[in-house]
Amino acid sequence: MADKKPESQFYTRPPKLGKWEALRIFLWNSETKQFLGRTGGSWAKILLFYLIFYVVLVGFFAAMLVVFFQTLDYKMPKYQLEKSLIGGNPGLGFRPMPSDSNVESTLIWYKHSDKGNVQYWQKELNRFLKAYNRSNNVHADKLEECRQFQPPQPGKVCNVKIDHSWQPCIKEAGYNYESKEGGPCIFLKLNRIYNWIPEYFNTTTMNSVDMSPSLRTEIKTAQANGQHQIVWVTCEGENVADVEHVGPIRYIPQKGFPSQYFPYVNQDGYLSPLVAVHFEKPKRGVLINIECKAWARNIIHNRAERRGSVHFELMID
Ligand SMILES: *[C@@H]1O[C@H](CO)[C@@H](O)[C@H](O)[C@H]1NC(C)=O
Ligand SMILES: *[C@@H]1O[C@H](CO)[C@@H](O)[C@H](O)[C@H]1NC(C)=O
Repeated sequence: MADKKPESQFYTRPPKLGKWEALRIFLWNSETKQFLGRTGGSWAKILLFYLIFYVVLVGFFAAMLVVFFQTLDYKMPKYQLEKSLIGGNPGLGFRPMPSDSNVESTLIWYKHSDKGNVQYWQKELNRFLKAYNRSNNVHADKLEECRQFQPPQPGKVCNVKIDHSWQPCIKEAGYNYESKEGGPCIFLKLNRIYNWIPEYFNTTTMNSVDMSPSLRTEIKTAQANGQHQIVWVTCEGENVADVEHVGPIRYIPQKGFPSQYFPYVNQDGYLSPLVAVHFEKPKRGVLINIECKAWARNIIHNRAERRGSVHFELMID
């Protein structure tokens, strides 16, 4: 380059331009045919470079996503039971739940004679039980009326049929919230854990666990009839006073979750089994602390971590 430069040529100061003139020349320099300081060829090269750059970038991410999605299974979690974050110990849940505005609250409080008051709880239950109405289940064809302790046919799931035998824990009876004498129905469900298989108690294994004599008797009777493949459910008052106030309790349709509903492996149309707990004659006007527990050998009870048991309070005015 240096040899081409004529010796006589000195650097000359470019002519001093006005502000607007400089801008105009920057936008379009007709002498050098530069637009924004670059020639057409230069612009073409730079655009081509970025085009290729982004195409490669997008391609790279798309390839990575494809590789990632290859490792996913939409039906089955990768980390199951103890390996998963939620663990292999199912929790127990209750419905109806107090309103979202008070997430910490577990108090079910209403005035049985106040229609508006009662309606909130009934609506909550209607909403929760909607999924159990066959006409709302898009996989209704997969539902089977299973026999007790008999697993469903392959590709099917057992129906949870809430019919008139669940009286008064049905919509038509307002779940008994308006009853003058009797108490409400609270629905319990075991949280779904993929591929969790209950280890049912039997007369041998129940001895190593702290449980009430009445539950022991029940397990004994059930086993004698060959019907112990059930995750038992018990509800009781938490303190001495609560035990007295809570009164008799009925479990509908039975006192637990029978084996035909396990395991849950994300089957189409799967319904979590339910136990409707009917408080038949709870004391009015007092707060009653209630704890419900689910019983299987592989359910550990931990009140603080809300595992295997659930706590709520009942107050009926
Ligand atoms: C189920 O749902 C249908 C339609 O949504 C409704 O007509 C019917 O009354 C419901 N059945 C029960 C038992 O709630
Ligand atoms: C109870 O269950 C345990 C573990 O599943 C089993 O080893 C035992 O034989 C069972 N006992 C009876 C009496 O069924």
